[in-house]
Amino acid sequence: MHPLIPGLLFVCSILLILFRPKQKVSCAPGPPSIPIIGNIFRVNLTEGAWKVFTRMKAQYGDIIFFHGLGTNILVLNSLKAVNDLLEKNGTIYSHRPVFTVAGELMGLDQSLALIPYGKEWREHRKLANIALSSVSVQKYRTVQEDLSALLIRDILINPGDFFKHVRLSAARVVMSVTYGFSVDTDDKYITHAEKTMEIVTTATVPGAFLCDFLPFMKHLPKWVPFMKEAAHGKFMIDTLVDRPFEQVKSELVSGTAVDSLARDLFSLGGSNVEFDHRIKWILGTMYGAGGEATYATVLTFIMAMALHTEKQKKAQEEIDLVVGTERVPTIADLPNLPYVKAVIKETMRWNPAFPLGVARRSSEGYVYEGHFIPKGTIVMPNIWAIASEPNSKYDPREFIPERFMDSLVSTIDPAAYAFGFGRRYCPGRFLADNSVSIMISTILAAFDIFPPANQNLKPNFSLNMISYPKPFDCRIVPRSENASRLIIQRAAHCQENSKI
Ligand code: HEM
Ligand SMILES: *[C@@H]1O[C@H](CO)[C@@H](O)[C@H](O)[C@H]1NC(C)=O
Ligand SMILES: *[C@@H]1O[C@H](CO)[C@@H](O)[C@H](O)[C@H]1NC(C)=O
Ligand SMILES: *[C@@H]1O[C@H](CO)[C@@H](O)[C@H](O)[C@H]1NC(C)=O
Ligand SMILES: *[C@@H]1O[C@H](CO)[C@@H](O)[C@H](O)[C@H]1NC(C)=O
Repeated sequence: MHPLIPGLLFVCSILLILFRPKQKVSCAPGPPSIPIIGNIFRVNLTEGAWKVFTRMKAQYGDIIFFHGLGTNILVLNSLKAVNDLLEKNGTIYSHRPVFTVAGELMGLDQSLALIPYGKEWREHRKLANIALSSVSVQKYRTVQEDLSALLIRDILINPGDFFKHVRLSAARVVMSVTYGFSVDTDDKYITHAEKTMEIVTTATVPGAFLCDFLPFMKHLPKWVPFMKEAAHGKFMIDTLVDRPFEQVKSELVSGTAVDSLARDLFSLGGSNVEFDHRIKWILGTMYGAGGEATYATVLTFIMAMALHTEKQKKAQEEIDLVVGTERVPTIADLPNLPYVKAVIKETMRWNPAFPLGVARRSSEGYVYEGHFIPKGTIVMPNIWAIASEPNSKYDPREFIPERFMDSLVSTIDPAAYAFGFGRRYCPGRFLADNSVSIMISTILAAFDIFPPANQNLKPNFSLNMISYPKPFDCRIVPRSENASRLIIQRAAHCQENSKI
């Protein structure tokens, strides 16, 4: 713990006593609390809050209530609770938490992912849904397939760096699809985007800044450390959003722009300042939101394969049978690859990219199953708990793709939870599905993945909002000379095409 934290908590408790009456609401069950601090700090975060909340389910049930420092948090531990509140009562539960620092000071409240539920959100969302519909994203299949071939080539050349290659590849897909930029021009954007997303994901953890609890702190002078941090964040985010937008705009004017979400969105409206601003932020949001969850999923897959070589073999046999060894798999092959699809589903179930979803906030008080949920409560869908729901046949913590092919004992499809819920359900899901599927099936076709030669591979995932494996070792070996040759040919062919 930082040495300043106890002091800050003390100051902040005094301020709360002076300025804010203690809220007398703790109607839904939750761990015992102490005055002012409440029970929020009872959660041991060293292993991931989602696992703690999932264990607490046995004691407290489907909804668990935390409070303290003037903040209320409700954790939803079952698909039923999530559907009842986030879907059926979407009018109340579609807001996001208010982040004074990330939202107001850094400017992220202009982003589709954080805009308060209301008219402006609806306008953004309408445009995003058009640009990312299941039909619209079909035209990016070739780009996605080309970039998968490039990924395989990069891993072939330097398998030890697979982690970096997967990250870069996922970022390139979003970059190409969002703005239509080629691989050669985008690396400066990608490096910048990665740095910015690190700032964004830490700043949007509820309670990341004391100022989020005590908004009046935003009036503190510029030299205060967190104000400096906020100013730096704003600069990084503005650059992330502005720079590619200016470039694509000039390409559109000069007629050199290729197919992209940017081109689609520009074609939808007039050119006025308000519309420009909206499009700029929608594109920036897609770009920011799209890469990390995609590579988190692919890296989780690689780890699962290293741990379960027998499942890997089964998936590869299916690909050899259906696709053959004379060509590379395409997105169009996926419907004919049921086992590979089950592996992808199992990856998203085994370690969902957003184990606690993306938090919501309630806009009204509401009584659910006899428990009062106050206005302004931060609501977290515990996707991990839903994904780990035990059933009579399969251990929820084991990696068993077969569970999705069992006609007797059914398992909830991750499509029902991995991409969120209700009105703020992930608009990028079709694009993401294609990216993840083609990357995974191309990797399966090209490589055998083994655990490291002389050490145990233990799953170890980051505890951030987006959870992915911490850097790990594994051996990635080409399956055959033919498979490698095919990939190199394909990669060379798509670079020649210089479309990407
Ligand atoms: C495997 C990849 C992905 C996963 C697992 C994923 C998952 C999610 C989840 C759980 C949410 C929160 C939804 C909620 O509040 O209930 C979300 C929101 C969002 N996602 Fe994704 N996502 C992925 C890829 C993408 C891609 C590729 C894009 C864009 C091109 C994208 C754009 C967005 C946006 C803009 C939001 C905010 C929507 C809103 O607040 O209205 N995502 N995503
Ligand atoms: C939190 O959990 C970890 C792992 O389960 C344990 O090692 C640690 O002692 C716990 N910390 C506290 C304060 O209980
Ligand atoms: C919440 O959902 C229930 C069940 O669908 C419905 O009866 C109720 O009217 C909803 N309340 C609000 C405020 O949306
Ligand atoms: C997981 O990673 C953290 C830090 O990166 C490390 O301290 C911890 O020991 C690792 N856990 C396991 C089980 O390897
Ligand atoms: C490799 O490719 C060549 C030419 O396409 C083919 O004749 C040969 O049978 C392939 N080898 C294997 C092991 O698939």
